[in-house]
Amino acid sequence: MCCRLFLVFVLSLFLGFAYSEPGKANSRSFKLGAPGALVSTGFLKHLLPRFSLKTGIRIELVEETADADARFSMAGRGTPVFSGSGDNWYLEVQSTRNEHLSRFEDWITGDIGRKTIEGFRSDGKVLFTAAVATPKTAETVALAGDAIRGEQLAVSHCGRCHMVNEATRLTTIGSTPSFAIMRSFSDWQDRFEAFFSLNPHPSFTMIVGVTEPFDVSRPPPIVPLELTLNELDAILAFVSRIPPADLGAPIQYQ
Ligand code: HEC
Repeated sequence: MCCRLFLVFVLSLFLGFAYSEPGKANSRSFKLGAPGALVSTGFLKHLLPRFSLKTGIRIELVEETADADARFSMAGRGTPVFSGSGDNWYLEVQSTRNEHLSRFEDWITGDIGRKTIEGFRSDGKVLFTAAVATPKTAETVALAGDAIRGEQLAVSHCGRCHMVNEATRLTTIGSTPSFAIMRSFSDWQDRFEAFFSLNPHPSFTMIVGVTEPFDVSRPPPIVPLELTLNELDAILAFVSRIPPADLGAPIQYQ
């Protein structure tokens, strides 16, 4: 009995799952890679189940670097599918064989997919638009300060957790909000100015002359982060120049 099952399993591998009947769950699926920064927005939890519900095709979300049939990326290859996080996102197909994947591609670029993309809200805000964005220029308020130094400081001090820029995409903690996402909050400036007092930072952050020095009897649990106010100023100048993630024409429903 068990050997027969095993044989069927091996056979089905050989025949490329030709044995699976339509409707059998395991064959109606494909693997989709996505960077942690995109996953952490919650957007894919909104998008993917809606496709699966319509089609019965399951999408297995895997890490950006894992083996996958396709991935969402900002690298500019593949089919442009939505805009957000300050950039255009593409569906990069790795294997062309998967009919379910083609179905997904049709869906996400079609009417329903586009409406689904734009139906997503994070804190009441539209983060992604189906229209492919042309980079916005004017209109962002750039703060005075040394943005170039700010970027370097942000990469070295914040980049071990946050995705600060493209260079820190792969080294950061996926569940930590990216700078581009946080820049899209209307009160981003307040949050960044006070970040050292907002969790989780107080336990490991010291701003010279502002916060109390670390208690010697309770050292920070992780590598501490020390900045001067000038350095924080430079980081703010850099952040003010990051295009907010809800880039693209604001959508008016009225
Ligand atoms: C050790 C990891 C770590 C480092 C280093 C770090 N952060 Fe964070 N930061 C986090 C996490 C995790 C959150 C999300 C907290 C949450 O969602 O409640 C966060 C949230 C934030 C927020 C939003 C806070 C809020 O409540 O609105 C800001 C702003 C921020 N970080 C700025 C920075 C800046 C600027 C730096 C570097 C100078 C930095 N962070 C360094 C882990 C880190």
